[in-house]
Amino acid sequence: MKGYNFAIVGATGMVGRKFAEVLGERHVPVKSVRLFASNRSAGSTLDCLGSPCVVQELTKSNVRAMKGKIDFALFSAGAGVSEEYAPLFADIGAIVIDNSSFWRMHEDVPLVVPEVNPEAAFTHRGIIANPNCSTIQAVVALKPLHDRFRLKRVVYSTYQAVSGAGMQGFYDLRDGVSGAPPKKFPKPIAFNILPHIDVFLADGYTKEERKMIDETRKILGLPALPVTATAARVPVFFGHSESINAEFEKPCTLQEVRQCLSSFEGLTLADDPERGIYPTPLSAAGKDDVFVGRVRLDDSVPSGVNLWVVADNIRKGAATNAVQIAELLIKKDAEDAK
Ligand code: A2P
Repeated sequence: MKGYNFAIVGATGMVGRKFAEVLGERHVPVKSVRLFASNRSAGSTLDCLGSPCVVQELTKSNVRAMKGKIDFALFSAGAGVSEEYAPLFADIGAIVIDNSSFWRMHEDVPLVVPEVNPEAAFTHRGIIANPNCSTIQAVVALKPLHDRFRLKRVVYSTYQAVSGAGMQGFYDLRDGVSGAPPKKFPKPIAFNILPHIDVFLADGYTKEERKMIDETRKILGLPALPVTATAARVPVFFGHSESINAEFEKPCTLQEVRQCLSSFEGLTLADDPERGIYPTPLSAAGKDDVFVGRVRLDDSVPSGVNLWVVADNIRKGAATNAVQIAELLIKKDAEDAK
């Protein structure tokens, strides 16, 4: 089988490290991996697919030197780096799969969750955006219900892990439990909850909440869907949890909802409260599926459903989703070559 050359930009970060791990676990046909990060970690060595690999500084000349030698560039180094370097990697012939928010809402950049809108991946012009972590798990749960009952309105409330803010977010919780002041978050996160993820916008929403609203509409192809969100950071290391309240056009029964959820690829129904079965961040951590439980009809509206949705934000919410996008393109490449 043909092998592919990968670059990982932000290779020393929380998601960057996971890219390499997931590529190995999923047996993606990798021929080579080049690691890029800032000058702070240039020259350091990381284990990559079982071999030591030296981290290179991300500079324009280092990227240009790779012309024609990178098939896929997986990015997770922040919006500024993606803005500057994603077009450069596309120019040297790579397909960029970008985990930052920078390109997500650009009209000619597809925003892809492979279980939900795989066809969008094939419309790329060199850059594909990986959605916001909370949005990925939400749309995996909503898609089968939308296909059957037609979404009318969505209300999100999130409980998001500190690892979503990268290594520094992780350290703020780890060190905060023994009283260290936060460096990444605006207030202590240990023994606390912050209704504040990313910056506040003029309308009082946070940028994280706005991302969930806009990206849900784009991925589901429903630009006018009424969606609202409240996003909170909680003292959990890995795994985002969400309460989702969804209203539908068509009537639904609890049995139909459960059947729809349990038969959708990438979604695991973990819903048997009498036996203590419902998803939690700890039970989802380290797994690639999205888990849904506490499924209930919302009888305050004609056709409504309440869901509790949990996923590992570094895996399905970031690295796994990006690798799955690469797998879609690799599969298409193999089919085209036949
Ligand atoms: P570095 O470790 O050299 O700072 P996280 O999201 O976990 O905080 O990780 C961010 C990732 O993005 C790290 O790999 C970090 O590298 C990388 N990064 C941050 N700024 C830059 C930059 N200006 N150029 C290249 N990589 C960067």
